[in-house]
Amino acid sequence: MVLDRTTSPGGATSPGIDDSALDHLIGEQEQIFLDRQPRSRQLHARAAKVLAGGVTSSWQITRPQPVFIERGAGSKIYDVDGNEYVDLHGGYGAGLAGHAHPAIVEAVARQVRRGTHFAQPSEDAVVVAELLAERFGMPKWRLTNSGTEATMDAVHLMRAVTGRDLIIKVEGCYHGHHDAVQVSVMPDEDDGIGPASRPASVPASSGIPRAMTDLTLVATFNDLGSVSRILEEHPDGVAGMILEPIMMNAGIIHPVDGYLAELVSLLHRHGALVCFDEVKTGLAAGYGGATAATGVRPDIVCLAKAIGGGLIAGAVGATEELMAHVADGDYEMVGTFNGNALSMAAARAMLEEVATPAAYERLDRQREVIGERLGSSISRHGLPAHVVSAGAKGCVTFSTSPVRNYRDFLAVDDRFNHLHWLVQHNGGVFLPPWGKTEQWLVSVQHDDADIDRFTDNFERFAATVSSLLPGGNKLD
Ligand SMILES: Cc1ncc(COP(=O)(O)O)c(C=O)c1O
Repeated sequence: MVLDRTTSPGGATSPGIDDSALDHLIGEQEQIFLDRQPRSRQLHARAAKVLAGGVTSSWQITRPQPVFIERGAGSKIYDVDGNEYVDLHGGYGAGLAGHAHPAIVEAVARQVRRGTHFAQPSEDAVVVAELLAERFGMPKWRLTNSGTEATMDAVHLMRAVTGRDLIIKVEGCYHGHHDAVQVSVMPDEDDGIGPASRPASVPASSGIPRAMTDLTLVATFNDLGSVSRILEEHPDGVAGMILEPIMMNAGIIHPVDGYLAELVSLLHRHGALVCFDEVKTGLAAGYGGATAATGVRPDIVCLAKAIGGGLIAGAVGATEELMAHVADGDYEMVGTFNGNALSMAAARAMLEEVATPAAYERLDRQREVIGERLGSSISRHGLPAHVVSAGAKGCVTFSTSPVRNYRDFLAVDDRFNHLHWLVQHNGGVFLPPWGKTEQWLVSVQHDDADIDRFTDNFERFAATVSSLLPGGNKLD
């Protein structure tokens, strides 16, 4: 299928729901949304003449229309129509610092006056690598400009070190838009995904040659058997496996106990390497990401998003042995803007002054408050849903059963997510538009009033949705 989030994968519907009342509610909320944003509509029409699709990245094409943002301050963003939102979108998980954080502003302002780009290393880059090494337990680092670049270098490195071509990825994990990982990202059932016990390798987009897709073999999250089958079918063929240690692009799916540790030993027994893609989990899941939280050490860690404090930065950390291949030129990890002075100034401030142990204590408390309040709205109104969170990130999964892998995720009804997104948006809270795949990120600048606005909106949403449930009060 063409990678397109204008509709989320999995057209599942919940049994017993009053479909026409749900569609009616969605239509009503979409109209409120449009009425609040005439200037965004005008800008989108103008943008469509010069920007493909009227946006700067395809995932900004959202229903009912893209929202043009004017500015951000602290925990809030403001659209071009002057509407204020508590920003829980967080720029798809990059906004852990919130907006215009004083420490980031100061660091960037200082650096911008001293020059932004030299294509030579700086002291800030050394400090950033030292701090990442301390947090993520990987001794050696290189810097990139995005998550895509980080995972692309990681895949190249696994292939370079092992001399093998095949890689394994998890169905439903997104690792950026390079060929090797543009496979089985968000396939729909009618894309030829194969049985759950043997997922097929499905190109995630047009433009990905079959010859590339065939080099990426697909496993099921939380299922060691699916990995061991691939390894046995391809003796000495697999360079390594890339995965999100906590899946964060299919709602949030935690690894079951022991999965990650056993996965690492299984792959190592077959001479294959392991890369944790912590682009999204990274600083958002905790001080040292999922790597520190789970205590499982992979061979490579990829970072991006939050580490730049809102600027453009990515990083690859790896063992001494692997990075020796980079240091001695066997694998050349290159890029004009890698570790550029401006990004490194921001990343240093992020690591030293923003994502501090005290900030994580506060985020932990906020996560508990959100979990408790949303959980009690869910039980009070009998919603078929549960809350899943990890560090500063969280989501409501609209299903009563736990979601353990992508196939479970496909079975979740997407319409509740869209309605929830609209209700929050019209109530002054900006969540990521593709609520089935991703929901909130709380930043270090969010306060109690922000959390109240979010949880109050959820309570209103839950009360409304309960009327659509079998036996619920019908809407007028
Ligand atoms: C887990 C993961 N890896 C990699 C990427 C790609 O990062 P970028 O968009 O910075 O290229 C993303 C982006 O959403 C991601 O969520």
